[in-house]
Amino acid sequence: MLDLLVHNASLPDGRSGMSVAVQDGRIVEVSPGLQAPAHESVDAQGQLLSPPFIDAHFHMDATLSYGLPRVNASGTLLEGIALWGELKPHLTHEALVGRAMAYCDWAVGKGLLAIRTHVDVCDPRLLAVDALLEVKRRVAPYIDLQLVAFPQDGVLRGKRGPQEHMDTLKRALDKGVDVVGGIPHFERTMADGALSVKLLCELAAERGLRVDMHCDESDDPLSRHIETLAFETQRLGLQGRVTGSHLTSMHSMDNYYVSKLIPLIAEAGLHVVANPLINITLQGRHDSYPKRRGMTRVPELLAAGVNVSFGQDCAMDPWYSLGSGDMLEVAHMGLHVGQMTSQAAMAQCFEAVTTHPARALGLEGYGIAAGCHADLVLLQASDPVEAIRLRATRLRVYRRGTLIAQAPANTSTLHLPGRPASTAFRHDSIPRF
Ligand code: FE2
Repeated sequence: MLDLLVHNASLPDGRSGMSVAVQDGRIVEVSPGLQAPAHESVDAQGQLLSPPFIDAHFHMDATLSYGLPRVNASGTLLEGIALWGELKPHLTHEALVGRAMAYCDWAVGKGLLAIRTHVDVCDPRLLAVDALLEVKRRVAPYIDLQLVAFPQDGVLRGKRGPQEHMDTLKRALDKGVDVVGGIPHFERTMADGALSVKLLCELAAERGLRVDMHCDESDDPLSRHIETLAFETQRLGLQGRVTGSHLTSMHSMDNYYVSKLIPLIAEAGLHVVANPLINITLQGRHDSYPKRRGMTRVPELLAAGVNVSFGQDCAMDPWYSLGSGDMLEVAHMGLHVGQMTSQAAMAQCFEAVTTHPARALGLEGYGIAAGCHADLVLLQASDPVEAIRLRATRLRVYRRGTLIAQAPANTSTLHLPGRPASTAFRHDSIPRF
């Protein structure tokens, strides 16, 4: 007997009337109209069954700290960094773990079951690293948490000097942090930024690790560290294992230079992460009007075959006062900022919070196919575009075939003479003329 059978489901690739059979935590069959005895049988009623959402870029050490010790009055990146510096001396292991665990509860409710989080490694005590390693262990049954060693103050610029900052970063990796991070645009000079990319990529190559750098999170069109990241990736044979996060300077670059740069990114097999909620709020702050949007060139990168994901980046922290772990909200913003409004582009926005980050993170067994992990989200929507439009309710969330979250359908009861008794905001209930 099967453990779980979901039938009459629509899948993100457009197939409908599909059954998904689960045994021992894995999907064993995906076929139309399969009927078989199962301990749990769910009628999806034609709604969308998706693999879980993935956040390719987050800061879990800062999350839910909004208002501590004060709010970010200007809302700028620089005041956010200053505020984080004010908060750091007051952080405790218990508070970091408590906030991160609460965020992970939100994530599960939103069907977000894999998160790559950067963790600040400039504190010689590695307080946040220890806290997030504990969180990683505790949430492992329901969330894949990948940690990135993020030198927020710059490995070369940090107050304690390059040697000590590199040593602290290496100690974080020794403790079990998975990925090498960086922040080249924040180093003192362009040359130091390039040197930091070289040193950090060499470290990753030496240890067989992946790389994910905050790269060119700036409106300065001359911030070109992504070029060095692509070069080092190729030089060290790291193709497919390196991610450039943010790349907002590309928004402001000269088109001629970008026509050279994007093929270099594609050739090096770099993954790219845009963070639309944060880019649209933090970039362009020195502009009057016209005011730049700041998000990197997502449609152009996708057209060149680059694997682009959307990340949440921040939720209720020194940089951003909103956010709820809802990757459909992130996709919704990315779609608007990137003007990705064709049917194909809207579908890509859904992929940017599901299949694309699965590749960037190197997740094993992700997807809806025989042999994949039975990690599934049933959405109150017919297809990926409707899911984005409605930021659809996650009706049921499964991890390895076990139900870990559920929510009632989003329906408004109406008290209107001559009108239906309720609406669920669905397109398929509208008369077609
Ligand atoms: Fe970030």
